Amino acid sequence: VDSIERDVAEVLVSKEEIMAAVERIGKAVTEDFRGESLIVIGILKGAFAFMADLIQAIDLPMEIDFMDVSSYGTSTTSSGEVRILKDLSTTVEGKSVLIVEDIVDTGLTLSYLTKVMESRGVKKVAIATLLTKPSRRERAVNVDYVGYEVADKFVVGYGIDFAEKYRNLPYVGVLKPEVYEK
Ligand code: PRP
Ligand code: MG
Ligand code: MN
Repeated sequence: VDSIERDVAEVLVSKEEIMAAVERIGKAVTEDFRGESLIVIGILKGAFAFMADLIQAIDLPMEIDFMDVSSYGTSTTSSGEVRILKDLSTTVEGKSVLIVEDIVDTGLTLSYLTKVMESRGVKKVAIATLLTKPSRRERAVNVDYVGYEVADKFVVGYGIDFAEKYRNLPYVGVLKPEVYEK
């Protein structure tokens, strides 16, 4: 049978642990953004699953929008440049922005996006990410809300892909080496 689970070596963050982080971050955002004009921006594609759950844990009026960005170059050598593949469809000027990511790795994506938001005249910008890999950081990024810190392993699931697959796993897992080595 075709199963995506058989490619997973271990569960790194279970569905229960994900939902605990969603509730914790949702409550913190609800307190921190009360009275603000809030727009929550999910970064495609990886953030879609966390975005969907997190916005339901935030008890505030909000707009939502999405951006898709991509680093130049191959997946192994990043030139540090980021381009916008899909921009926002709403204006962020004067609003309080919460950027939602699935994972912060080198920090290139978020250091770029933070600058873009500031250049567009936002009132403030904060970042929420389910996962962070501090050992991989190349650019300093001020991440306001973190679900879990993870080691530098090949993680997939809950939005995160390997070669565009495994985004539909209901938890964050580590792939078996034979999957990414072939
Ligand atoms: C991944 C992830 C973050 C980014 C983090 O997205 O979803 O957006 O990389 O990496 P960085 O901190 O090194 O910039 P990716 O570009 O793979 O696109 P995807 O979300 O569509 O999978
Ligand atoms: Mg992404
Ligand atoms: Mn990806």
